[in-house]
Amino acid sequence: KMDKFVSELMKKMTVDEKIGQLNLVTAGEVTTGATASTGVEAKIAAGQIGGIFSMTTPKKIRAAQELAVNKTRLKIPMIFGLDVIHGYKTTFPIPLGLSATWDIPLIEKTARIAAQEATADGINWTFSPMVDISRDARWGRISEGSGEDPYLGSQIASAMVKGYQGNDLKAINTMMACVKHWALYGAAESGKDYNTTDMSLHRMYNEYFPPYKAAVEAGAGTVMTSFNDINGIPATANKWLVTDVLRKEWGFNGMVVTDYTGIAELMDHGLGDLQQVSALSLKAGVDMDMISEGFLNTLKKSLKEGKVSQADIDRACRLVLEAKYKLGLFEDPYRYCNEDRAKTELLTPANLKVAREAATKSFVLLKNDKQLLPLQKKGTVAVIGPLANTRANMVGTWSVSSDLVNTPSLVEGMQSVLGNQVKIVTHLGSNLLEDAVYQEHATMFGRTIPRDNRPESDIIAEALQTAAQADLIVAALGESSEMSGESSSRTEIGIPAIQQRLLAALLKTGKPVVLVLFAGRPMTLTWEDEHVPAILNAWFGGSETGAAVAEVLFGDVNPSGKLTATFPRNVGQLPIYYGHKSTGRPLAEGGSFQKFRSNYIDVINSPLYPFGYGLSYTTFDYSDLKLDKSSFKAGQSIQASVTLRNTGKYDGEEVVQLYIKDMVGSITRPVKELKGFQKVFLKAGESKVVTFTVSEEDLKFYNNDLKFVAEPGDFTLFIGKNSQDLLATKFELK
Ligand code: IFM
Repeated sequence: KMDKFVSELMKKMTVDEKIGQLNLVTAGEVTTGATASTGVEAKIAAGQIGGIFSMTTPKKIRAAQELAVNKTRLKIPMIFGLDVIHGYKTTFPIPLGLSATWDIPLIEKTARIAAQEATADGINWTFSPMVDISRDARWGRISEGSGEDPYLGSQIASAMVKGYQGNDLKAINTMMACVKHWALYGAAESGKDYNTTDMSLHRMYNEYFPPYKAAVEAGAGTVMTSFNDINGIPATANKWLVTDVLRKEWGFNGMVVTDYTGIAELMDHGLGDLQQVSALSLKAGVDMDMISEGFLNTLKKSLKEGKVSQADIDRACRLVLEAKYKLGLFEDPYRYCNEDRAKTELLTPANLKVAREAATKSFVLLKNDKQLLPLQKKGTVAVIGPLANTRANMVGTWSVSSDLVNTPSLVEGMQSVLGNQVKIVTHLGSNLLEDAVYQEHATMFGRTIPRDNRPESDIIAEALQTAAQADLIVAALGESSEMSGESSSRTEIGIPAIQQRLLAALLKTGKPVVLVLFAGRPMTLTWEDEHVPAILNAWFGGSETGAAVAEVLFGDVNPSGKLTATFPRNVGQLPIYYGHKSTGRPLAEGGSFQKFRSNYIDVINSPLYPFGYGLSYTTFDYSDLKLDKSSFKAGQSIQASVTLRNTGKYDGEEVVQLYIKDMVGSITRPVKELKGFQKVFLKAGESKVVTFTVSEEDLKFYNNDLKFVAEPGDFTLFIGKNSQDLLATKFELK
């Protein structure tokens, strides 16, 4: 039906009208830093725009849509996109935090709510999920993805697509997903944004491609190309990537859009002038041009000169029209423009409840000496630090539609939970960053944190007076929202020195100190780990951050988050990830320096906090790792079980993790690969046998010929609480 409809429509279209459909412009309204495209209204009426992004509210979207429908010859509606990355108005933790929940149904639910709210406000297309694997915490956009692991990343990618798109894209509360950034954007050299990637094919297929593939298999309607150069050809002009792998190999039949000015940037990559790069991009398989207007302004000329074919333009036009058809826009161009929905479906108590749950589950307890936490609800607590009283910095990066003005700050949120059981006193304590200019970079787009221009010693002295009134100190330190995210790469990834000096002064008081860390990336916390008794990593928890922190610190909720990206000891260890290769000169895990082994002379190999790590207020014991057989044949599977016991005083949830190691391969294989996990709730004292099935499929990998195969031989199977702390056994694939 869709085929017929679109074919009939295309028969009536002129070349200009077809090219117009390929043009995506911005209203510049909500995207951080974007200015509006020029002459948008006139271009809509002239049939030169296929879609708009960063425009919100049914009223404005209806008005723009009316122009397209009433002024153009064929009345083709536009598609309306937005970066709905971790929630719409109700904001969930940043994606890296959400991934730390390891709670796939919950993650799907957050995407479902995001779609419900965004569609109520006129949007029908989100530029999410961002599924770029990253193993380099210098890269600011590590905050927007699900960390370092392809297996977990794939499950999350798929869940998010399902959450956004639901079972029926034509339902008015579902929106089209856009998997990004295709591809390898997270592997930017030296963690610098937009930087080059050069990678072997089997590494791409085994370690970086799986989440994109999972999102495509889950039915994602669109894909966005990345900014970066891949083995010499930027993604936006990369035919092998967009046509051969994505479309032919994986069967993706949706629309491909560039990233912001992706086509024009090909000129800076050195691929030619605007006409040439636009033709390259179209021929590579790109359908929609975000911002560059290279398609709009050059494709007709290229067609005349034989540089692109009518078939290239038709393919792109068809895929854009099909996306609109799938959303039901031809049936009713205004189906997402319902002002009643916008009034009643945003920031509802039910949605905020899910945001609170997601936030508490995303927090990772990194340290808890002598069970300092949970705290008792009594006495006075001093909440001190530049992140204590900022509303605008609770939601994290890429939260373009969040309410920065009314989101409760950490202190306000804590107070709402603690009421008058606990008295809170508070102080700025220190500036976010010593350098005023850097602080400005880190607090853009309304995410300000006021500066105190007095001498640092005066500010600290005053903070200590505040602390003196309290029984305990909560130090609210770390990054501001904009210290991670796009174009926020860092070369030092610790808590800024000025804040560390405050922390040292707070510790000197002798009062118990809990560090509540705000972070958009894995950070280097070696000093903090040595000196601070309790550290709770709160990432950026979204709308309900403050209340969620209180619930966890005071024991209403037992933390269960586990890291999905390795925390290094220092920047020099980057890139660092648990699933590395052995090398020919491996150092035994946990070993100290050995000359002529693969290690450093100034830091041990192990990270500070490994992938999968996170504490609970209770303790979990693993025992009795068993397999139901010692070998199995192709097409069969094996069952592994372990007894998990809650040996502490609190009820709690544990993420039980299963890894395998392929002992001998035709290419080198990672020392460990996550192949299963289960989130298990146990009451204090309770135990449970947790069982996993490992099939031949789980043992497959792309070999040097890029064939997806399982190679017979020996495997080690590990189960445990994180990628380092594991029980092990062996089996054989016959
Ligand atoms: O979706 C984003 C992308 O992730 C980065 N550049 C801008 C796009 C649209 O806002």
